[in-house]
Amino acid sequence: MDYQPNPNHLVKELVDVSGYDYEIHGLFVNPVYIVKRPSITINEEEEEKEIEDIIAEGMQPNTANKFTKNTYIFDTKLNNLKAFCYRHIKKYVDDLIQPSNHYLEFYITQSWINVTKPGGHHPKHIHPNSIISGVYYYKMEESDGIAFYDPNWKIKQAIRIEPVKGSPLGGISMSIRADAHQLFLFPSWMEHGVHPNPQATTDRISISFNVFVKGDLVEDRASLGALLLQ
Ligand SMILES: [Fe+2]
Repeated sequence: MDYQPNPNHLVKELVDVSGYDYEIHGLFVNPVYIVKRPSITINEEEEEKEIEDIIAEGMQPNTANKFTKNTYIFDTKLNNLKAFCYRHIKKYVDDLIQPSNHYLEFYITQSWINVTKPGGHHPKHIHPNSIISGVYYYKMEESDGIAFYDPNWKIKQAIRIEPVKGSPLGGISMSIRADAHQLFLFPSWMEHGVHPNPQATTDRISISFNVFVKGDLVEDRASLGALLLQ
């Protein structure tokens, strides 16, 4: 027999909150910073050639896609794109990390190109030994995107109340559509992945990188937890 709710728990007076001044605060949010690179600033021909050259140097297999053998591409190539990424790393740090020590230096460690063939995917993962991670979409299908997972998903799954599809508050994952020339920045500990796109007919090409930090993480070197990275 279907469950019949207790009518005493559903009385109109209990579910009607009109007239109450209530607020919902998103505490300790999991940020995803998204910015589009203006196409006017891109030398498409030069960039395409550089990307082709890096891919031609060799690829290595991942679970269901490939990435370049060169995992330090920004050290020697794609200068204009690197500058765009640095500009927004700085903004991400200022707005979302808000360090009290303004002399911290956030810098790109590794950088590489991912190539995902039609039908390929990239399972849920984090980026170890990194603070901020970025992915820049170079070539992709219109229907392509990236999925992010709530770091508390295991706790939420312990008692799983199925939310409506795409709920940002009740759900444990969110898929975001991505466009070519968009940069996504997010905490490296945030799990993310790429679902297979059944509509894809061309290779999806993205550029990923990791960011670490140098300097005094805590301003007062005498305080517990102080750490100087150089
Ligand atoms: Fe990733």
